[in-house]
Amino acid sequence: MSGANGFGRFFGGGQPDSAASEMPPLLRPPVPPQGTETPAAPIPFRTGRVLEPPPQRAESTVVEEPVEEPVEESVEEARVEQPALEPETVPDVEAEVEVSAETETKPEPEAEVVLGPTGRPMPVLPDPKPVFTHGNARVISMCNQKGGVGKTTTTINLGASLAEFGRKVLLVDFDPQGSLSVGLGLNPHQMDLTIYNLLMQRDVTLDDVVVPSGVPGMDLLPSNIDLSAAEVQLVHEVAREQTLQRVLAPAIEKYDVILIDCQPSLGLLTVNALTASDGVIVPLECEYFALRGVALLKTTIDKVQERLNPRLTVDGVLGTMFDGRTLHSREVMQRLVEAWGDQVFHTVIRRTIKFSDSTVAGEPITSYASSSAGAESYRDLAREVAVRCLDA
Ligand SMILES: Nc1ncnc2c1ncn2[C@@H]1O[C@H](COP(=O)(O)OP(=O)(O)OP(=O)(O)O)[C@@H](O)[C@H]1O
Ligand SMILES: [Mg+2]
Repeated sequence: MSGANGFGRFFGGGQPDSAASEMPPLLRPPVPPQGTETPAAPIPFRTGRVLEPPPQRAESTVVEEPVEEPVEESVEEARVEQPALEPETVPDVEAEVEVSAETETKPEPEAEVVLGPTGRPMPVLPDPKPVFTHGNARVISMCNQKGGVGKTTTTINLGASLAEFGRKVLLVDFDPQGSLSVGLGLNPHQMDLTIYNLLMQRDVTLDDVVVPSGVPGMDLLPSNIDLSAAEVQLVHEVAREQTLQRVLAPAIEKYDVILIDCQPSLGLLTVNALTASDGVIVPLECEYFALRGVALLKTTIDKVQERLNPRLTVDGVLGTMFDGRTLHSREVMQRLVEAWGDQVFHTVIRRTIKFSDSTVAGEPITSYASSSAGAESYRDLAREVAVRCLDA
């Protein structure tokens, strides 16, 4: 390239000298008196981008204009022979014009469009804005009636990533399987109080049940198999669909984000979660059967929005267990984008064994394998969630 754009010529060092040496002796520039600069010396350091007259020409102009007369003989001589500089300076100016014209007419190289795993251009995701006071939490449910799609994994790791970015986070285990609580290292048989007590006993308060999650800035409302009884008992309650919303009300002013991990069903507990939420995130495994049943989930979300919770919106659809090496994963992702458009997150969560390992270790992947690709993906998801619905 350097040869093609002329930089090699400008930085070559010997060319101007050799040009001078090729001139007939009479046209050669005179040897300047000691102490003055050689007029041709700065030329090799010019670059094609400099459009102003080069410094040595300004100097020669000064010499041409007799400022003080009479001048010493040597300077006089230099002035008389000044035209001899022309043959050398003119070609250089032409070269400059040539190079600058080349720079001007050359079209700017277009910024390379990087396509993300969803097949759409990948946006730059900024870090979430810092928060100085906490409260006015956004409540988001992780919802999909299909089992094993990454709801619990997403709740833990999105929560931990948002906590890393300084948000105060409350995780709500709303699944009688208690996977969220186990995934954060709690023993389901050693819990004094769970979300079941909060829902069913009026004298139990939120503060009685909340426990630290082990991640700074993130708390947990734990659950165990007791919660399965609540589904039956709630049927007889007044305003049974709003029960969770009622018990979570005091948490809204303490936290920035509340994430509810739903069970794999569209029963009364899930309707409670959707009624208590501002938004819903739908994790979807990137495989063909995952697409079945999504229409039913959408109908449920629409019904809850119409009848119980007009503020409910779909915050995003998240592709999980994505394997970019398989055509199948990419096709499923394409179908998802066709069906849900921009509601599909640009971030996808790739399939990696590290998630199972971190569940066994009882901690989020963001601390278990902090610099792993899985941890980075959930940090990206946290950035995208912040852009979409926390900082907006
Ligand atoms: N991206 C991933 N790559 C590989 N394994 C994953 C990934 N995400 C989750 N898993 C694993 O898949 C299993 C199911 O994940 P998870 O429990 O999060 O799904 P779920 O939707 O909450 O399931 P359920 O409906 O039973 O509550 C877990 O063993 C988890 O470790
Ligand atoms: Mg789960």
